[in-house]
Amino acid sequence: MKELIVSPSILSLDFSRPGEQLDALANSHAQWLHFDVMDGHFVPNLTFGPDILRGFRKALPQKMDVHIMVEDARTYADVFIDAGADVLTFHSEALEDDLDAILSLCAHIRERGVLAGVSICPNTPVEPLLDHLAEMDVLLVMSVEPGFGGQSFMEGMLEKVKKARARIEAQGLSTRIEIDGGINAQTGALAVAAGCDTLVAGSYIFRQDIHAGIDSLLCLR
Ligand code: DX5
Ligand code: ZN
Repeated sequence: MKELIVSPSILSLDFSRPGEQLDALANSHAQWLHFDVMDGHFVPNLTFGPDILRGFRKALPQKMDVHIMVEDARTYADVFIDAGADVLTFHSEALEDDLDAILSLCAHIRERGVLAGVSICPNTPVEPLLDHLAEMDVLLVMSVEPGFGGQSFMEGMLEKVKKARARIEAQGLSTRIEIDGGINAQTGALAVAAGCDTLVAGSYIFRQDIHAGIDSLLCLR
């Protein structure tokens, strides 16, 4: 497996003291920064637009790991690539799980020089994607229903991780398996054991000392 990456989710950043928190993130060992985009339609919550991503990109050295939970994935993939995404992950469900549409958006994202990610909600099976993992850079397995931070980890999602990891190893692929939702030191350890190499964590990291939270996940490997 590849090096373990921790991607703190800024959904849980304390926006009453952003400067302090951004400084802590900038000086942390986190390699990516998870930027959750919600449109109030695909999920019942609203978050950040492209100008905020531009600001974070200026303020932080991390790679911008943009997770778009939006209905219009094609339009907003380009909007957030223009704003500086390094990784652009969209939802399979936003494209009605249409495999051709998913692979074509992955190809487009890659052509733009950005890592392409496909995310699946808890009720979406991983099987249709297993033959196509070479065509994406990241498979993002949601371990909560998307929309809000602070929910409990759904351990059953690790079956999807195991299946994808087996396929990635069998084919010698470099596709990352990222997991998002309810990750802390305990659930993160289960996720890594199942084959995840990229951990998103929001509330766990921001509800304690940011550096300690990040380092406690990075040492799981
Ligand atoms: C949920 C988001 C997650 C969220 C995770 O829809 O995609 O990235 O911030 O938050 P925690 O780690 O608190 O579950
Ligand atoms: Zn996310």
